[in-house]
Amino acid sequence: MKIIDVKDYQEMSKKAAEYIIEKVRHSKNLNLGLATGGTPVGTYTNLIEDHKQNHTSYQGVKTFNLDEYVGLSGDNHNSYRFYMNDQLFNHIDIEKSNTHIPRGDAKDMQKECEDYENLLAEHGGIDLQILGIGSNGHIGFNEPGTSFDSNTHIVDLAPSTREANARYFDSLEEVPTRAVTMGIATIMKSKEILLLISGENKKEALSNLLHGEVDERFPASVLRNHPCVTIIADEAAIADEKVRS
Ligand code: GLP
Repeated sequence: MKIIDVKDYQEMSKKAAEYIIEKVRHSKNLNLGLATGGTPVGTYTNLIEDHKQNHTSYQGVKTFNLDEYVGLSGDNHNSYRFYMNDQLFNHIDIEKSNTHIPRGDAKDMQKECEDYENLLAEHGGIDLQILGIGSNGHIGFNEPGTSFDSNTHIVDLAPSTREANARYFDSLEEVPTRAVTMGIATIMKSKEILLLISGENKKEALSNLLHGEVDERFPASVLRNHPCVTIIADEAAIADEKVRS
């Protein structure tokens, strides 16, 4: 794993955007895996700025998001479809039909999982997957204990994850209890992974990732087995690492 350490959230967002823009410009048909949460918001803002100023085009890009809440439709403000449209897709020249997010309101969620996995395979998989990390080591919505062999599936969200995400909802009760997420095996099939880590509350997660065992109890640890992972981490998240060295 390659680590790029940066000063703060702003610098992480700028570096991550530059990394993505480089790929968008140099590959004709890029399959880009996207994440939600607070971490990539600044990255998406930088992509939009660049699109406006430098006219980087997303017409050859297809996107595949990691996850979605079960029970929320795309027009619900808390759905990840709404988030993606609002934070990125509505502001760049990507065809909406080329943006893919599992549906949280499908009638048959099991079938939705299988369809999403097939969709990824039909498109030849993800070239570059952007990831954030939960403080308990979750990636996508793969909570501790998820099998490293898992494909796209339905998960029960950990109480800590629901609490962490309650900030976007009116109350904790409104946070869905289940989600659909790419599995660990799905994520690991990506040709390249860019993991963004910012803030003091992610310090322990970063330390576990770098020094802990590769173990299903800490889902992100699987990334140590991936041949092409780049981490961009800011000083607040990386502080303990500096003390170590
Ligand atoms: C969320 C998302 C993840 C995200 C993580 C961290 O629940 N499902 O994809 O990476 O938790 O979120 P944040 O960036 O807000 O800290």
